[in-house]
Amino acid sequence: MEYKNTLIDVKDHIAILTLNRPDKLNALNHDTLIELRSAFEELKSNAEVNVVIITGSGEKAFVAGADISELNKLDMLQGKKFAEFGQKIFSLIEDFEKPVIAAVNGFALGGGCELALSCHIRLASDNAKFGQPEVTLGIIPGYGGTQRLTRLINSGRAMEMILTGDIIDANEAHNIGLVNKVYPQAELMTKAWDLAARISGKGQQAIRMAIKAVNVVDEVSSQQGQNVEASLFALCCGTDDFKEGTSAFLEKRKPSFKNK
Ligand code: COA
Repeated sequence: MEYKNTLIDVKDHIAILTLNRPDKLNALNHDTLIELRSAFEELKSNAEVNVVIITGSGEKAFVAGADISELNKLDMLQGKKFAEFGQKIFSLIEDFEKPVIAAVNGFALGGGCELALSCHIRLASDNAKFGQPEVTLGIIPGYGGTQRLTRLINSGRAMEMILTGDIIDANEAHNIGLVNKVYPQAELMTKAWDLAARISGKGQQAIRMAIKAVNVVDEVSSQQGQNVEASLFALCCGTDDFKEGTSAFLEKRKPSFKNK
């Protein structure tokens, strides 16, 4: 697919996906969402890619939300379709078999915050700002934000963000567990790359099983989750990565996984 608002750069098994609509602070219009979906389909089938980093172009915004000029025209039926369309794409990211790291380099508002929430790990620059300001527009988060934010932080903090629409800075986002780490803006992409490279250096079959196991936590009881964990653990034991990883330890050498 020919991309207009999305850049994909693959090097050393790491893909950087940049949302590139800087004149609109990378707001997610319909075309950009379709590109995002295609980009993930492409990255899924690209055997060269182990880890994906998502960021926004420019120094001001990660993603400033869904495109309000498109929102403004919705009636109730269209509103349902609009939310479900975005939800499906963000679920695709959450369930993506390869790790997805959000490098939040500025405003992550509304759909932008929800996009970061659908990623597996969130890092932020010190100028990043997070918020679910939908109530200011007379709507609520519609791309999974009410669910993922509440699960990730806690219901009191999530309620406060969603009911006030307040925008919080990167340090507060870190304090409430919304992001893992905060870095000076100039270092964000290097740090995201270092993290991606550390993950990419492990056995990718195990990495994919781990994502599946962790993601099941919100769907099932603890016992069912442990049953899934045991099954995925068993699958790991049948992989080349397992043989290589354990043999390397016993032979006192570094593992050399096939997919590196
Ligand atoms: N949808 C559509 N366009 C958006 C947008 C969005 N979510 N966020 C920003 N833009 C556009 C602005 O309309 C402006 O376009 P223009 O130059 O053609 O007028 C451009 O991006 C720059 O934004 P601007 O508002 O001028 O920048 P700012 O520095 O003054 O303010 C924000 C930055 C992020 C505080 C402000 O843009 C904002 O509040 N955006 C909306 C955030 C939001 O409510 N998101 C949730 C949507 S569900």
